[in-house]
Parts: sequence; C-alpha cells; structure tokens
Amino acid sequence: MIIGVPKELKDHESRVGVTPAGVKSLVDAGHTVLLEQAAGRLSSFPDDDYRTVGAEIVTDAERVWRRAEMIVKVKEPVSQEFPYFREDLVLFTYLHLAPLKELTGALLEKKVTAIAYETVRDRAGTLPLLTPMSEVAGRMSVQVGATHLEKERGGRGVLLGGVPGVPPGNVCIVGGGIVGINAARVAVGMGAKVTLIDRSLNRLRELDDLFQGRLSTLASNAYNIERAATAADLLIGAVLIPGASAPKLVTRAMVGKMKRGAVVVDVAIDQGGCIETARPTTHTNPSYEVDGVVHYCVTNMPAAVPNTSTLALTNATFPYVMKLANLGASAAIGEDDSIAEGVNAYRGNLTCRPVAESQGRGWKHVRSLNRAS
Ligand SMILES: NC(=O)c1ccc[n+]([C@@H]2O[C@H](COP(=O)([O-])OP(=O)(O)OC[C@H]3O[C@@H](n4cnc5c(N)ncnc54)[C@H](O)[C@@H]3O)[C@@H](O)[C@H]2O)c1
Repeated sequence: MIIGVPKELKDHESRVGVTPAGVKSLVDAGHTVLLEQAAGRLSSFPDDDYRTVGAEIVTDAERVWRRAEMIVKVKEPVSQEFPYFREDLVLFTYLHLAPLKELTGALLEKKVTAIAYETVRDRAGTLPLLTPMSEVAGRMSVQVGATHLEKERGGRGVLLGGVPGVPPGNVCIVGGGIVGINAARVAVGMGAKVTLIDRSLNRLRELDDLFQGRLSTLASNAYNIERAATAADLLIGAVLIPGASAPKLVTRAMVGKMKRGAVVVDVAIDQGGCIETARPTTHTNPSYEVDGVVHYCVTNMPAAVPNTSTLALTNATFPYVMKLANLGASAAIGEDDSIAEGVNAYRGNLTCRPVAESQGRGWKHVRSLNRAS
C-alpha cells in the first residue's frame, strides 16, 4: 500500500502520524511511505531519519495526498485539505467529528473511508488511542503545576517535595482514571502529599493497593472535595463521564476558599472542565488568576511535548496502521472489530452513531455496508 504522512496544518499541532520506526516496519513489510518534507521536524524527527529507513520525502502536501491510498495523520483535516478527498482514499487520524459538520459533509460527499482514532475500541471496551494522550497529560499536569507554584509564575512559592525540615506541598487530584493515576505517580515521585478523589470505590481500592499507602484516597462528595481543595497547593481536575460534559465538582465558592497562590490544573477542560472557574487556555497564554488562584487549563497539553506525545500516540496507532496496510481497509474492517468501531464515514454513509445523533443525520452500521464483513 502507498501510505501518505502529511505535515499537520492545525494551529500549534506539532505531532506527526508515523515515526521513523513505523516507516521502517512498513517499508520492511513491502509498503511505500510518502512523507511530506519536514512533517516530523517539530517532533524532533528530521527528514533524514525517515529517508534512512526508506521513506520517500515529498516536497508538497498535494502530491502526498494524491498518490497515497491511505493517509495517516494526527488531527482532523482542515478546509484546505478537503479538495484532496476522493472515493478510494482511507484516512486514519483523530477526527472528533461531532461538532465538525463541514468536514463530515466533505468526507461523506467524497465517500472517503474515515477511521477515527478516538472511536477505536478494544475488547476491554477502552479507547486505546486516547489512553496515551491521557498518560502524557496526567504526568504533565504535575510538572506544569509545580512550575506554576513558583513565585515568578504567580504561585505561592511552594516546592512540592519540600526539603528536610519543611513539609511537602499538598496535591489533590479529582478523578482517578488514566490522567489521575499518572498525575499521582509523578506527584508521589516528587515527594508531595497526595490525595486522590474518585466516585468509584473499586477504583479507589485499586489505587490504594497500587500506591501502598503513599497517597490518601477519598470518596467523591462535595464535603470531601471542598476540604481537600482548600488544603491543596495544587489541585488537578481529571474526571470524565464518557460522552458528557465534565461535572463542575469544584465550585467557584470552593476556589474562593483555596490558598492564595495555589494552582489549579484542569486537565478535563477539553470536556468543559470540572472546576467551575476554569476556561480553556492555549500554550501561548496558558494561565490566568481567579481569586488569587492560578488556573492552567490548556486543552491540548500533549502538544507541549511533541516528541514524547508522537512516540506515545504512534506506539498505540501503529498496529492498526500496519493491519490496514497489510489487509486493505475493507478486509481490516471486516476482520477487526476495533477498526470497525473506528470507522466514522464509509462509502458516503455516516457510520458512527454519536456523531450522527449530534449532527441530526442518519447513520448505518459499517458492517451493513462492508462486503468483507
Ligand atoms: N487537556 C488535555 O490536553 C487532555 C489530554 C488528555 C485527556 N484529557 C481529558 O482528561 C479527562 C480525564 O481523562 P481520563 O483518560 O483520565 O478519563 P478516565 O475515564 O480514565 O478517568 C475519569 C475518572 O473520573 C472519575 N469520575 C467520574 N465522575 C466523577 C466524580 N463525580 N467524582 C470523582 N471522580 C469521578 C471516573 O470514576 C474515572 O476514574 C478527560 O476529559 C480527557 O478528555 C485532557
């Protein structure tokens, strides 16, 4: 198969769809990889690294899109890429189509086979292509929180680990899923005093077992959240209710009672945030203050560490890329339920129910359209 890897065009997107390691495996398996010049540069993968393992470096995006049978990207195509859509094209990338009517229309009109990372589901029912970015954001949340606690950044000047004779800082993590456990790992590693709150007692049992007394767990209710938030130097929002906006568990009044110079990192901001005073920010202007509390609410935290994020993302996506390349899309969709779950648009039909419902369109299950199923 001819696989195309264009340079990302979305603002501030610095990841790339395939690493040199991925190219090597694809080329070894007999496939051709076209990489747009400098596509990996912002992730610290120079063209030469790709060239060495057999990629063909192509100077313009149009040639990559036109020659490729499958495009592997990171973010959804932007409008200047829509003219490249065509019936026999397979697109494998994050799509998040629900709010993107124009892109959805273009994919359907041109009958692109569009497979979205975010809806690929494994046998355990988890979303394996979202997990790595939660791991990155969770670990990063403590790092950025620690930096914002420094006086220069408006913080109260607390070193999370403390020093001998001085107690460590308090970190409160609301939500003990993938983001929460990764935040806890780093916070515990730094020597902070960590409290983790989740509504699932089973999850708290697992975390209690895992951390062997190095953090405290608390059941989620307004009383516990208020007490932990007001004691915190660093408060991390990490809840998720799949498919819904994040609940506002930390209210404006609670933020008002937090210590001056404490820091809030609301990782759940991409779902609206679980801290009432949180609003989306960017890497250019990541933080602001409310009631003397520093808020960091960047919606795409992994973009700050594109080398790690690209490696983490492609570790998860690559097995699917290889399967799609080896079998072709129809056979791969027919054979692999995870890939079938990822298909959002197929032969001019919408095949993802939540996207169809949010846009008021009809939909069909991909299995009813795919002859290989
Ligand atoms: N800002 C970013 O760059 C970025 C990057 C990655 C992920 N995220 C977001 O981070 C959020 C968390 O993702 P995740 O992968 O950890 O999700 P997850 O499903 O693994 O974990 C969510 C946790 O929230 C808990 N929860 C739900 N309701 C709760 C409540 N009322 N009180 C306490 N806990 C509650 C759940 O029990 C679960 O343990 C999501 O919104 C995700 O989109 C943001």
